[in-house]
Amino acid sequence: MLAIIGGTGLTQLENLKISRRLIVRTPYGEPSQPLIFGEISGHEVIFLARHGNGHTIPPHEVNYRANIYALHLQGVTEIAAVATVGGIHEDLYPGTIAMPHQIIDYTYGRKNTFFDGVELPVKHIDFTDPYCPNLRTKWRNAALSIDESLIDEGIYAATQGPRLETAAEINRLERDGATMVGMTGMPEAALARELGISYAAICPVANYAAGRVDSLHGIQYEEVMSQLKVTMVKVRNIIAELVKQNGD
Ligand code: HPA
Repeated sequence: MLAIIGGTGLTQLENLKISRRLIVRTPYGEPSQPLIFGEISGHEVIFLARHGNGHTIPPHEVNYRANIYALHLQGVTEIAAVATVGGIHEDLYPGTIAMPHQIIDYTYGRKNTFFDGVELPVKHIDFTDPYCPNLRTKWRNAALSIDESLIDEGIYAATQGPRLETAAEINRLERDGATMVGMTGMPEAALARELGISYAAICPVANYAAGRVDSLHGIQYEEVMSQLKVTMVKVRNIIAELVKQNGD
C-alpha cells in the first residue's frame, strides 16, 4: 500500500476520491490527523497531511513517529512524501521541483527513532542512501510521463525551524554541500527506514533561501506560500500519475 504525506501547500489532494477517514492511536501518540483513505484513478492510497488539516502543527512539533507508525499499522510499504523547500543552489529557483538524493540533518530535540530502548531495543539502521532508489525511479517516471520537469538530485538540509534561516546559516549549509533547505525532511525519512518502509520525497521550491536573489533582504513567507499554489498543481499531477502507475 502506498501513502502520500503532504506538507505545506498540500494539506488536501483534490483528485482523491475519499472513502473513509480513520483515527489511529499508536504507542507514540496520535498522528497529525486521521488517515485519509481514498482512490486516485481507481487505485487505493492513504493521504496524511503532515502539519494537520488546518496546517496548525509547526515542523518541530509534528509527531513524526506517530505519523509513520500509524501508516505502518495500516500496512503501508511505500511513502511518497512532499516537502516544501527553499532553494540554495541556483538551479533550484522558486517554482521548480527537486527530488533530493541525500540529507544533512541539522534538527535537534525531535523524537527521531523507534529504537530508543523503550518500545524497541536499540538498533542502528543503515542510512547511507536515505531515499529509496525504486521509489525515486517511480517519482521520476511519473513526472516524465506527464512532461513535468523534476530536478533529479539534490542535498536536503533539514533545519529545526520554525524560523527561517539567516543568510550566514544558508552560506554554511551551502559550504556543507546542501542544495535545498526545509524543516520536515527529518526524522521522517529515517523513521520510515527504521520500519522498512520505502520512502522518497519530492520538494517544490517555494523561495530562494535566505540572503539569495529575491530573498537578499528577507523572505515574506506568506507571499511566497501564495505563489506556491501554481507549483502545487504540478505536484498534484505528478502524484496522480505516480499512484496510477504504481497501481497498474
Ligand atoms: N527554509 C526552510 N524551510 C523552508 C524554506 C526555507 O527557506 N522555504 C520553505 N520551507
